[in-house]
Amino acid sequence: MSEIDALLREDRTFEPSADFRAKAHVSDPGVYARAAENPEAFWEGFAHELEWIEPWSRVLEWNPPHAKWFVGGKLNVSANCLDRHVRTWRRNKAAFIWEGEPGDRRTLTYFDLYRQVCQFANVLKGLGIRKGDRVALYMPLVPELAVAMLACARIGAVHSVVFGGFSAESLRDRINDAQARLLVTADGGYRRGGIIPLKQMADEALAETPSIEHVVVVRRGYSDIPVHMKEGRDRWYHELMDGAPFECAPEPMDSEDMLYILYTSGTTGKPKGIVHTTAGYLLGCYATTKWVFDVKDDDVYWCSADIGWVTGHSYVVYGPLANGATVVMYEGAPDWPQKDRFWEIIERYGVTIFYTAPTAIRAFMRWGTDWPARRDMSTLRLLGSVGEPINPEAWVWYHLHIGRERCPIVDTWWQTETGSILITPLPGITRTKPGSATQPFPGISAKVLNHAGEEVPVGGGLLALTKPWPSMLRGIYGDPDRYVQQYWSRWSKDIYFTGDGAKLDDDGYYWLLGRVDDVLNVAGHRIGTMEVESALVDHPKVAESAVVGRPHQIKGHALCAFVTVKEGVYHSEALADELKSHVAHKIGAIARPDDIIFAADLPKTRSGKIMRRLLRDIAEGKTLGDTTTLADPSVVARLREQYQEEA
Ligand code: WTA
Repeated sequence: MSEIDALLREDRTFEPSADFRAKAHVSDPGVYARAAENPEAFWEGFAHELEWIEPWSRVLEWNPPHAKWFVGGKLNVSANCLDRHVRTWRRNKAAFIWEGEPGDRRTLTYFDLYRQVCQFANVLKGLGIRKGDRVALYMPLVPELAVAMLACARIGAVHSVVFGGFSAESLRDRINDAQARLLVTADGGYRRGGIIPLKQMADEALAETPSIEHVVVVRRGYSDIPVHMKEGRDRWYHELMDGAPFECAPEPMDSEDMLYILYTSGTTGKPKGIVHTTAGYLLGCYATTKWVFDVKDDDVYWCSADIGWVTGHSYVVYGPLANGATVVMYEGAPDWPQKDRFWEIIERYGVTIFYTAPTAIRAFMRWGTDWPARRDMSTLRLLGSVGEPINPEAWVWYHLHIGRERCPIVDTWWQTETGSILITPLPGITRTKPGSATQPFPGISAKVLNHAGEEVPVGGGLLALTKPWPSMLRGIYGDPDRYVQQYWSRWSKDIYFTGDGAKLDDDGYYWLLGRVDDVLNVAGHRIGTMEVESALVDHPKVAESAVVGRPHQIKGHALCAFVTVKEGVYHSEALADELKSHVAHKIGAIARPDDIIFAADLPKTRSGKIMRRLLRDIAEGKTLGDTTTLADPSVVARLREQYQEEA
């Protein structure tokens, strides 16, 4: 029996050590009851730890499904992340310790960051950007991305970060949806030794983005990345920064002014622009970074997420900086140039808190324990996981081989929409169980409901949030109806539907079961099946397609696309490859299907609806569920035979 099996077999739970508990920011389990008794007063306590220009007059105004938090207050997010630290001894403390994939390194102190943010804020103003304007950011993971976000926040511009792995078309659609006036990009970024030519990709998008007036280009790669600068539109970042004034007064922002838009996949072909506002979002990030990651001044904190995702927004930039933390940022892949790159980084900088995704942990498991064993990781004191349910085997492996049985693990459940962590252990208090995200954060009201909306006290159902929380999304940009329809219509307009299934055990612990809608979680990234289907049918040879997930050892789920082709088109390996590339080109490499299965027909109900459930059964090799509603049952039988032959 392996070590992992032994720990699993006993159905073990893990207690925080007395030492950890003694030093933790929170160690009194009474916080849960106090927060539940008066959540508004609980959140207000954190609000007093932020810096305000004008105080709020009301904590919450709740007109379901619309919430306003800290009504009447004025503050600035960048001032909370920078100015208030620069006034203290933290002025010369490292804010970012950055490492590029090729091995280049930079450290920015809070003062450095403050100055660069002020300078870039002045640059933005000089280019005509005003409060409320949207600015798109399409960047590799470099400090300038955080500088640009904070500079937007400083002047009240709304940033929309588009992950650097998205395609030109995805960038174009996001720019157009938000009507961004300015784009900040870079010549490129490094990934597994290759170059992602971001500016070149942006140029393709920019051919069809009439709202963009200016493009600012960060020079990441010097001479090895060719860049075409369009006269009158494109300017180099370093040239604009040279001589830009060092001071820029922070714009007093209303608590409910928009801070950013971040696009995420939903159940239709069109990504949703999730809107976050100022005070509540900052407070949620601040509070959870402090209590969940237990961040203190001597910590070296590393969240390995790309800033292009919400995890990077909340836990690389806003949460840790609001806490005055030292944050490690690494541009590249975990296996480049060799499979201990992450452990080397932990050793080099003495990382104490490490937050990553189950898909990465499963890859590390596969690469073997020799890689982490070679490195000194004795500085680590806390580990985190996010993005998808973590399987107990991976949890225990993480505990043994990275945490060396010493570090509590916080498995944190949350979403782009929730803004900050909602279900999680508190590392100084919570007894953990491998695979369970444990308990709602104090002040959060989560319930498991059945389809009728009745509470399930023990057992499985749908995860719902029954009270508003400060960092909740405030809407979908430009689509108020979809906001109501998508999140607040499942049961009633004051209950938020997460789209996730969950199970409550006898101890009241939450076990997340994955998405129950047409959203897939592939390697921790959200991908809408409809988005991939739209990309496929956009190909001239494709008639119809249906995309489902099938379990995958490392990625959690793999994308499995069933495709019917147009008349006269022949199935071939080459066509399958062409379709995969087509999707990668339309959406981005993260959405490239793993399997293309050509089908003569897709299983449909008599009303013409594709039965994805049956396709999932086929892809997973399961016995088929109910087929009585099928228009033509033989379709499924044929597909299944064919799938098994090909697999
Ligand atoms: C999933 C990422 C189980 C879930 C922060 C959710 C998780 C979706 C966990 C949101 C977790 C995230 N355990 N499932 N700890 N964390 N998820 O918007 O399905 O990219 O709905 O936000 O990821 O993905 P998003």
